[in-house]
Amino acid sequence: MILIVDFGSQTAHLIGRRLRQIGVVIQYCDPEDVLHAIKATKPKGIILSGGPNDISHDTSLSIDKQVLSLEIPVLGICYGWQLIAFLLGGSVKHSKKEYGPEEIIFDTQTGIFSFPEKKFSVIMSHGDTVTKLPKEFIAVGHTKQVAYAAIFNEKTNIFGVQFHPEADHTKHGMILLKNFAVDVCKEKLNPLELNPKTIIQSIGETVGNKKVICAVSGGVDSTVAAFLIGKSVGKQLIPVYVDSGLMRPETDIRVKYIFTKLIAANLIIVDAQKRFMNALKGITDPEIKRKTIGKLYIDIFQEQAIKYKEVAFLGQGTIYSDVIESKGSKHASHIKSHHNVGGLPKNMKLTLLEPLRNFYKDEVREIGKIAGLPEDIVNQQPFPGPGFAVRIRGEVTPDRLSQVKIADSIVLEEMKSAKLYDNVFQCFAVMSGAYSTAVKGDARVFGEVIAIRAYESEDIMTSRWAHIPYDTLGIMSSRIVNEVPGISRVVYDITTKPPATMEWE
Ligand code: XMP
Repeated sequence: MILIVDFGSQTAHLIGRRLRQIGVVIQYCDPEDVLHAIKATKPKGIILSGGPNDISHDTSLSIDKQVLSLEIPVLGICYGWQLIAFLLGGSVKHSKKEYGPEEIIFDTQTGIFSFPEKKFSVIMSHGDTVTKLPKEFIAVGHTKQVAYAAIFNEKTNIFGVQFHPEADHTKHGMILLKNFAVDVCKEKLNPLELNPKTIIQSIGETVGNKKVICAVSGGVDSTVAAFLIGKSVGKQLIPVYVDSGLMRPETDIRVKYIFTKLIAANLIIVDAQKRFMNALKGITDPEIKRKTIGKLYIDIFQEQAIKYKEVAFLGQGTIYSDVIESKGSKHASHIKSHHNVGGLPKNMKLTLLEPLRNFYKDEVREIGKIAGLPEDIVNQQPFPGPGFAVRIRGEVTPDRLSQVKIADSIVLEEMKSAKLYDNVFQCFAVMSGAYSTAVKGDARVFGEVIAIRAYESEDIMTSRWAHIPYDTLGIMSSRIVNEVPGISRVVYDITTKPPATMEWE
């Protein structure tokens, strides 16, 4: 077992995800509980995650220094490495910030730092760096800004990296984690089985003979969750689709197909378009917007739930990344409230049933496929729960909603016609909230700027903007300024995550 000390990095949970993927048993603990956790779990290795803190603050998170002299191998990642250096007599200073991909160069390849190439791209996300190594540490890798990007102490089996090996866009990150787990910690690999049967069985045990109202959006997560719940409790499942008007137009058709043809369920469609538009009137703050939408969804579910006797559970397709980004980890910074987690009222009368809460998107897709859902449904691009509302920077008005929907369908059509749709994780249009001048038919138009965003990602926590050919971008741009009323300009968003999140709000 490998113990992961969670200092609150947004990617801390990916460390466990990667190790689980290769078959290592993992457990998380908070820094303040580390000695207790070591005693209780007897780990073969310890990983100190990254975190949003700054080592030099008195209030910064730390661990008991004893952890570094227990003869258990330790790998420190980003903040975790800086903390090791700080505790063992090195120095950590503010540095030029690095957020996103950087090239690392391995001057020497040795031990866990043995890769198929000498230089490759790694994900960095830090504002501090180690400027003086503790005694007996040797640096083997550096980037342009960071002299000590990969370090180790051979005698004590303590390792450090300034980059994030757990991030999908760190090339060879998995090799590093595997080398640490297998070669240094001597872990035996036991690959995790994604077994829908176990989930279905556990749903049945939880639900008993009660009814489950299930929030369905037509997206991958809620569909897989409802499908598994339906397989487990049959007619006790009541799928409810709240038509907020904020979803892609084809969503209604897809939801009807899934919950009448694929699963024989009594699908309820609630037309709530007006309620959502009214609730969103005047709201410009992204967090208030998300919370307003989340609350209205839950209110509507509760209204439905009281119509059905014996409804005790609210089924939802919450997945692991939703939980993390809504502050699922004690020391993580709050990034944004995903509506399916952040908007829940404290006095909610239904018990949440979230069978996919511990799984990542790619795992959810695999589980769905094994359970029998068609590939085009499980492989569809994700769409955010608050829908187009988070793709309209500022107030959601009927006009802007209609504009973004037309632009979005143009982006999708052109991506499909260029056969690029399946290569990207998501692609869409955003009403940017910026305005610019254009000339249309010899007249001045001061219209809104639309941004196109398209990127590749495996795990949602990191992404790389898609290198869409200029010709395709050109067609999209020309169609959008011509076919969407009131649009003056189109720009392409070329920002990686981190630092930018995928959605603009
Ligand atoms: P961000 O913008 O956080 O998005 O990088 C990561 C992924 O999550 C989707 N997303 C959401 N999904 N409820 C959801 O169910 C939400 O509130 C929400 N916000 C973002 C986003 O589309 C991307 O796939």
